Amino acid sequence: MDNYYLKGDLHITPPFIFAVGFVSMFISGGLTGIWLGNSTIDIQLHDTYFVVAHFHIVMGVAAFFGMFAGVYHWFPRMFGRMMNSTLAYIHFAITFVGSYLIFWPMHFQGLAGVPRRYYTNNNFEIFAVFNDMNKVISIAAIIVFMAQLLFLVNFFYSIFKGKKATQNPWNANTLEWTSPIEGIHGNWDGDLPEVHRWAYDYSRPGNESDFIMQNIPLTEKEKTEADH
Ligand code: HEM
Ligand code: HEM
Repeated sequence: MDNYYLKGDLHITPPFIFAVGFVSMFISGGLTGIWLGNSTIDIQLHDTYFVVAHFHIVMGVAAFFGMFAGVYHWFPRMFGRMMNSTLAYIHFAITFVGSYLIFWPMHFQGLAGVPRRYYTNNNFEIFAVFNDMNKVISIAAIIVFMAQLLFLVNFFYSIFKGKKATQNPWNANTLEWTSPIEGIHGNWDGDLPEVHRWAYDYSRPGNESDFIMQNIPLTEKEKTEADH
C-alpha cells in the first residue's frame, strides 16, 4: 500500500479522528440531554447554563466535528490534493480539548443555578464564585477560535499547494473514489461504474486487499457463498 496517511492496522487519519470526536461530543451532549429529559431534575436545570452546555456540545460542536470530518475526507476528491495532516491533527487536538474546556464547566454553572440569557452574571454576588471559571471559558473559546484559522489556512493553502492526492487516498470502497482525480464534467469519462457489492467489504477473509471497492465484481467463490 503506497499510502503514508494510513498508519498500521488502525487507520488514523484526519477524517477518522474528527469522526471519533463527533461521536464523543454527540454522546456527552446526548447524555446530558437525558438529564434534561427527566422533569424532576429539569425543574432545577431548566433555563440554566446546563441547557446551554448541553445543546452547544450536542449540536454546535458535534455538528462541526462532523463537518470537519467530511471536509478532510472529501477534500482530495474535490481538489485532487491532500490537506496537511499535521495541521489537521493540531486543529483537532486544540478544538477537541478546547471545546470540552469551554462547555464542560458550563454544566457545573448550570447545576449551581446560573441562569441563561442574562446580559451579565456579574451583577449577582452569588455567581461571583464563577468569575475565574468564566475567564477560563473565554480564554479557551479564543484559543479554539484561533485553531479554526489553522483549518482555514490549511484549506486554502492545500487547494493550490497541497500534496497531490492519489486515486483513493483513504482506501475507501465507494464509487466517488473511482472517478478521475481531475474533476471532469460528468465525473466519469467512459461508462459509469457499476455497483457489485455493499460499501463495507473491508478485511474480507481470503482477500489480499484490506478493502474491496464497490465496482469490483464478485469472485466465483463469493458468488457461491452468496447462494448459501
Ligand atoms: C438523548 C438526546 C437528547 C435529549 C434527551 C435531550 C433533551 C433535552 C431537553 C429535555 C431539553 C430542555 C431543557 C430545558 O430547557 O430545561 C433540551 C434542550 C435543548 N436541546 Fe436537547 N436533548 C437531546 C439531544 C439533542 C440534540 C441531538 C440536539 C440538537 C442537535 C439538541 C438540542 C437542544 C437545544 C437547542 C436545546 C435548547 C432549546 C432552547 O433554546 O431552549 N438536543 N434537550
Ligand atoms: C464559537 C461558538 C459559539 C459560541 C461562543 C456561542 C455562544 C453562545 C452564547 C454566549 C449564548 C447565550 C447563552 C445565554 O446567555 O443564554 C448562546 C446561545 C445559543 N447558541 Fe451558541 N455559541 C456558539 C456556537 C453555536 C452553534 C454552532 C450553534 C448551533 C448549531 C449555537 C446555538 C445556540 C442557540 C440555539 C442558543 C440559544 C439562544 C437563545 O437563548 O435563545 N451556538 N451561544
